[in-house]
Amino acid sequence: IRSVFRSWDDLSNKGDEWEIPFETLSDLEHLASGTQGVVYKARIRNEIVAVKKVDDKKEAEIPVLRQLNHPNIIRFKGACNQAPNYCLVMEYCPNGTLYDFLRSENKLSPQLTFEWAVQIASGMHYLHQNNIMHRDLKSPNILLDANNVVKITDFGTCRTFNNQSVLMTVIGTYAWMAPEVICKEKCWKKVDVWSYGVVLWELLTRETPYRDQSYGAIIYGVGSNRLQLHLPSTIPPGFSRLLEMCRRQVPRKRPSFYTILLLLSKASTELI
Ligand code: ADE
Repeated sequence: IRSVFRSWDDLSNKGDEWEIPFETLSDLEHLASGTQGVVYKARIRNEIVAVKKVDDKKEAEIPVLRQLNHPNIIRFKGACNQAPNYCLVMEYCPNGTLYDFLRSENKLSPQLTFEWAVQIASGMHYLHQNNIMHRDLKSPNILLDANNVVKITDFGTCRTFNNQSVLMTVIGTYAWMAPEVICKEKCWKKVDVWSYGVVLWELLTRETPYRDQSYGAIIYGVGSNRLQLHLPSTIPPGFSRLLEMCRRQVPRKRPSFYTILLLLSKASTELI
């Protein structure tokens, strides 16, 4: 019994470590305002961190973020949970977003293009392996650390696949499930594969997707399969084929991130 209590103590200690008193953050500096809140650069003890303000406790978000541990997924360090200063504390990425990098004068070698394509796919594979969908993968949500290693961020909209149907997953069998339920579970993650295709296209072209189109035209055009990103002939054939797979209309027919990683390694010789 004592050991049971000890394990409870351990857990609560971990909880305390996760909790970061807001007063310990200093030198707050505005970094970015996105659809999902404002991000600041801050100092905590002697470390520089990024702090994202959130409107409420977002309790659902925290258990998911806490467990994530992958070189291409932003590392969360803790949270401030005292009203009104709810925020998430994460590693700081000094080299900004992929979106900004692609619009800068910085050189992007074929080698680095390929490495980033692989790193983004590895991070996404890890999320999907852990039953997490990102649902908002785009170049402004991809950060570059001091070594130009990709870190995927902004999980404000992420969901675990099993949220809605805990009972079903506990039973753990498909035998009672309607086909659309099975399909939904498997297909939903494919929204991230579509987005990955757009990011890969950005990496290969350094252009803005659907640059000359209005929001309405994009929604209608993409939804009805009448609007597609142009694949210039400068894109090596293996990569063009991959982009075409990622944008297949039927989600089931899009590759998994595992397959994407295999296809990338096959196509690598075309780029580097
Ligand atoms: N912008 C948004 N999140 C960031 C982070 N973690 N580091 C640097 N800039 C960011």
